[in-house]
Amino acid sequence: MLLTASVIFWGMQTRLTSQPAEPITIALNNGVQMPVHAVGVGSAGGSVRAVISANIAAGVMHIDTSQLYGTDALVGEVLALVPREALFITSKVAPCSRMQGRLLVSGAAECRERTAAQIASNLANLRVPRVDLLLIHLPPPEGCAESCVLLQAQWAALEVAYSAGYARAIGVSNMCRECLECLLVTARTVPAINQLNYQAGIGPEGESLRQLCAERGIVVESYGGHRHGALALPAVLSAAAARGVPPSRVAVRWLYQQGIPVVSTSANPAHIADTQAAFTDPQMALSPTEMAEIRDDPEGQRASPCLFATFG
Ligand SMILES: NC(=O)c1ccc[n+]([C@@H]2O[C@H](COP(=O)([O-])OP(=O)(O)OC[C@H]3O[C@@H](n4cnc5c(N)ncnc54)[C@H](OP(=O)(O)O)[C@@H]3O)[C@@H](O)[C@H]2O)c1
Repeated sequence: MLLTASVIFWGMQTRLTSQPAEPITIALNNGVQMPVHAVGVGSAGGSVRAVISANIAAGVMHIDTSQLYGTDALVGEVLALVPREALFITSKVAPCSRMQGRLLVSGAAECRERTAAQIASNLANLRVPRVDLLLIHLPPPEGCAESCVLLQAQWAALEVAYSAGYARAIGVSNMCRECLECLLVTARTVPAINQLNYQAGIGPEGESLRQLCAERGIVVESYGGHRHGALALPAVLSAAAARGVPPSRVAVRWLYQQGIPVVSTSANPAHIADTQAAFTDPQMALSPTEMAEIRDDPEGQRASPCLFATFG
């Protein structure tokens, strides 16, 4: 997965300072290798091009997008400029039941149809025949107890897309125990990923969800790894001071050391390099005591790993 010498964006050449190393990857439950560091465009605001350009120039070749971000056409422009085989693309579909209070489907059959149409339009906007990973972005906003049947129907639509080759792997996002248990009752394919709001200081509730996922073969992937006070936790600051590195490097390392891939967003080359160093810097290995102290730091904000469960 090496780029040759440069990548071209919007008429200007972004020179790679050095040939990027092969990305560090993690094996998903179907054997697909996923780069552990992704750049997300969901929080890039008006800087989608700059964020993607800076990350690709630094060798971050995993791009995380979603139908809900409204950026697919722009991301599609970028993807068209980079060899497809050099990139790992994650995309997401919106829940089919209800958004912002509006009921979207009348039942399971319509949910499956609507999701299939969403996937087709997602691929068309991204201008690719398939993505590497396709996620259900959110649980049904009214909750999985009320709308379990719709979640199961939407998952069935992702399974059809997977069988048809529109995605090399499928998964979910923002799903807590209740939603995972609902989905797994009828699933023929176990989700490969559960992308969660997960960071240093998450505490025992987050850890118990991570363990549940691990028991089922589902990899937890983090977004918000730099947020919710993670970079200011005493345990993070202490581990950073001991190594003379920025706290962000400890916060990301803490995730990676548990096998948690990280979606981050920055157009700042120093920040991107710092995040990459968390994966590669040999002095970053954290001791078991440091790992536990960072997880359970009493100043952790304990952001709900299912933050969006009430969205809509
Ligand atoms: N599945 C979901 O529901 C969901 C929800 C939210 C986000 N996401 C995805 O995850 C992506 C990342 O989310 P996020 O914005 O929470 O990512 P994040 O990387 O945790 O947070 C971004 C913030 O952290 C700063 N930052 C990044 N790298 C840093 C570093 N090395 N040192 C210090 N500060 C650093 C950035 O500042 P600078 O810009 O100054 O570098 C920015 O303010 C989104 O774009 C989206 O694709 C998914």
